[in-house]
Amino acid sequence: MDTGENAVPQTAELVASVDRRSRDADLGKLSGRDEAILKGCDVGHYLIELSSGGHATRVALRAGSRPVTLRILDTANYVDNVDVTSVPPMRTHGTFLPDGGRPVVVLAPMAGVTNRAFRRLCREFAAAVDPAHPGIYVTEMITSRALVERDAETMGMIACEPDEQPRSIQLYGVDAGIIAKAVRLLVDEDRADHIDLNFGCPVAKVTRKGGGSALPWKRLLFRDIVREAVRAADGRVPVTVKLRLGIDDDHLTYLDAGRTAAQEGAAWVALHARTGAQMYGGAADWSSIARLKEALGEFGTPVLGNGDIWTAADARRMVDQTGCDGVVVGRGCLGRPWLFGQLAAEFGGLPTPAELDLAGVADVLRLHAQLLADAFGEYKGSREIRKHIAWYLKGFRVGGDLRHRLGMVESLGQLDDLLSELELDQRPTLEIISMPRGRTTAGRRMSLPAGWLDSRDDVGLSAELLALAEVGVSGG
Ligand SMILES: Cc1cc2nc3c(=O)[nH]c(=O)nc-3n(C[C@H](O)[C@H](O)[C@H](O)COP(=O)(O)O)c2cc1C
Repeated sequence: MDTGENAVPQTAELVASVDRRSRDADLGKLSGRDEAILKGCDVGHYLIELSSGGHATRVALRAGSRPVTLRILDTANYVDNVDVTSVPPMRTHGTFLPDGGRPVVVLAPMAGVTNRAFRRLCREFAAAVDPAHPGIYVTEMITSRALVERDAETMGMIACEPDEQPRSIQLYGVDAGIIAKAVRLLVDEDRADHIDLNFGCPVAKVTRKGGGSALPWKRLLFRDIVREAVRAADGRVPVTVKLRLGIDDDHLTYLDAGRTAAQEGAAWVALHARTGAQMYGGAADWSSIARLKEALGEFGTPVLGNGDIWTAADARRMVDQTGCDGVVVGRGCLGRPWLFGQLAAEFGGLPTPAELDLAGVADVLRLHAQLLADAFGEYKGSREIRKHIAWYLKGFRVGGDLRHRLGMVESLGQLDDLLSELELDQRPTLEIISMPRGRTTAGRRMSLPAGWLDSRDDVGLSAELLALAEVGVSGG
């Protein structure tokens, strides 16, 4: 049998009977076929067990009218002449689109930013507009090894607000076994409702050890990580994947990584439409989001678009242009958490909340500082708010000396005094709203482990690199 990627699937004559209560199917014998017709079974993802002792292989049932086609996707693991005895449901939620048919809005995971205080602030703006569709707010990235070792700082970072729903946690890691342990910890201890896997980090200290946006290049390692995470989640929590386009223009990985993630049961694939080498420079290439959406059509896996959404109108444009199932918003909400209210209005067909003048901005800034102080104490909260102050005030007329003193704020009382010095009756312009905030680092050659690009099919990381790649604190 041709097990190459380009093998043309054939259709077997076999028709299976399905017990719809247990969702088990007895398929009898499949021989040398890539496809079989399966009647009366729900569309979704399933695990197929090969009684001959071959590898367990995942299959997906395509959307469409019954009978649906059961296609063995992982041809590399397909064994000729096998008895297929049962098709229990695969351990995944299939898709994770809590807002029904409308585009889902997600706060992008941002290290040093999306802590519980900021997530709450953003969520409250959305909930005030449309309480039934508040969106999804992801934590900063959490290093799976630090989580498994119960590092105190990391345990603090996964703590969510009592009413936070869903509790959405992003994991980073390069070792499928450790990631699986981290997922199991989150699921068994009921600490998460959604787990996102980070394959997008472009930072040199991460990619030089084979992590983040360097990792999908090693397709077996990538597959194993997604596979083990989905398996460990055991259908109790959806697992999603966040990708970049690839390493650089000559080493794009998003289409095959997206397909692999879909085959392995990822509940969505989010694409930041830049390569790792681009960092945050240039414009995100939204046409690649459309290409990924097209590529994942056969799996029914949702695609979320990410990159350069500064306004609710941008989000609408991305959905219209790419057909994506939702948007992931990062820098556009820095110093502008009310953007989530505007996004909720845009996708809910509700009146758009107005932009805030500087008086309104100062009120939100003050509330943000209070939430940080409530979560982390006034000492840490006052220091955490400093970087946000620069984002909140971006583009407004504020003297250099006042900006400097705000950037050194040490207490909430001092913050109140300094805010009272602002000229509050300033209106924002579109230019102010769309000003890039947060990271704007231009592109550069990506740091990679020696020989990384030589092959896509080796396992990927030496034991030495594995040990190094997960050392470090979460949120880096
Ligand atoms: C300050 C900052 C921290 C980030 N940290 C993470 C992270 O921890 N995990 C991750 O997957 N992406 C991280 N990102 C990338 C964002 O999630 C997002 O993909 C990127 O900013 C592009 O979206 P945007 O144009 O809407 O900002 C970070 C981005 C910024 C600006």
